[in-house]
Amino acid sequence: MFKKSIPAFLLGALLIGSLSFQSCKKDDDDETVTPTPTPTLYERLGGINAISAVTDQFLANVVADPVINARFAATIADANRTRLLRLNLIDQICAAAAGPCQYKGKTMIEAHQGLNITEVEFNALVGDLVDAMTSLGVAQADQNELLGILGGLKPDIVGQ
Ligand code: HEM
Repeated sequence: MFKKSIPAFLLGALLIGSLSFQSCKKDDDDETVTPTPTPTLYERLGGINAISAVTDQFLANVVADPVINARFAATIADANRTRLLRLNLIDQICAAAAGPCQYKGKTMIEAHQGLNITEVEFNALVGDLVDAMTSLGVAQADQNELLGILGGLKPDIVGQ
């Protein structure tokens, strides 16, 4: 009979072997678990649609801001200039947030040369961006991260 032909010690060895094989397999599975990657700022902001919505609200705030709206009067009066500024801002924010966009506009020095923008005007524009992000529910930490990146552009914009 089959049962009689396998000695007890062999059955024991087979049992231990299969148990230890199972525990090895479990360890291997644990090692292959891929850690969840930290989402980029672009992803945390909500991707291109959320960035476009923030930009639209930002521009609306700028147009309504008496401290700086005169600076943008000629741009707003021209639909093509407005469209281009909007697209450049979207690309710039998307790229700054490590998203899949490429900023194709002028350098910040070129774009603001001769405008003699003051610190008060710079802060007003940043305030308009903060209001846009807050009203669209962007988390404080994500706002701070984006402002930290854009804030680095200040020397190329103020006093040029
Ligand atoms: C972090 C701050 C700022 C950023 C990221 C920024 C970004 C830009 C960008 C991407 C452009 C378009 C460049 C191009 O046409 O190729 C631009 C243009 C311009 N910016 Fe700024 N800017 C900032 C601050 C300011 C401030 C404070 C003012 C004035 C109050 C200002 C006034 C203008 C004007 C008048 C233009 C030209 C718009 C046009 O082409 O009709 N910017 N800026």
